[in-house]
Amino acid sequence: SNLTQEELKKIAAYKAVEFVESGMVIGLGTGSTAKHAVARISELLREGKLKDIIGIPTSTTTHEQAVSLGIPLSDLDSHPVVDLSIDGADEVDPALNLVKGRGGSLLREKMIEGASKKFVVIVDESKLVKYIGGSGLAVPVEVVPFCCDFTRGKLEELFRDSGCVAKLRMKIGSNGEEAAPAVTDNRNYVVDLYLERDIGDLEVASEAILRFPGVVEHGMFLGMATTLIVAGKFGVTVKDR
Ligand code: A5P
Repeated sequence: SNLTQEELKKIAAYKAVEFVESGMVIGLGTGSTAKHAVARISELLREGKLKDIIGIPTSTTTHEQAVSLGIPLSDLDSHPVVDLSIDGADEVDPALNLVKGRGGSLLREKMIEGASKKFVVIVDESKLVKYIGGSGLAVPVEVVPFCCDFTRGKLEELFRDSGCVAKLRMKIGSNGEEAAPAVTDNRNYVVDLYLERDIGDLEVASEAILRFPGVVEHGMFLGMATTLIVAGKFGVTVKDR
């Protein structure tokens, strides 16, 4: 078929919303795929097919979308247990490990999705990789602004054997030039790790990254996804971990 990538994202998102039941606390993901799920939830609320949903947004962007659509919202302080989260990913490996954070929302996503009983990941087939880092996209790391170049250098050194190049993420100015460091919802910066080869044991890599005091969190979501929904040219598949 001739479905566009945008249509595939929407198909995956709509499929995930079939798991949403009235009365649930729902983690609302961030990005171009998750936004279709948020829109679908509000549609079902308006039609009366869903009731008493409480959304927990994973970013200020999603918060704004949900508010504009009239979805009742809360946060982890008031709702520490989330029934179900739905979110996209930048990469998904065969064991359902993820890379997230291209949109810079990885910290709130990890907090909320980590507090979820079920975490449904929605992607089009372009996000499937053999190994983490395998798409040539970066593994993002959220760092504190203080001496971020020191932390950047430490991260690059840590993964030298994987041919790592670590770059501070910049936001592009209106003139198309790199203007200033990109700032996350939590007022931190992002260091993107570009890898030439796989980084080996992901749990070991994760622990090593988190050991640097300047690191807040990283975008590898290991063992967190409970269900993967992939939309592709040949249909939509649902896989449980
Ligand atoms: C946001 O920081 C990310 O983790 C997104 O969930 C991820 O980048 C997927 O976004 P898209 O659905 O827009 O590709």
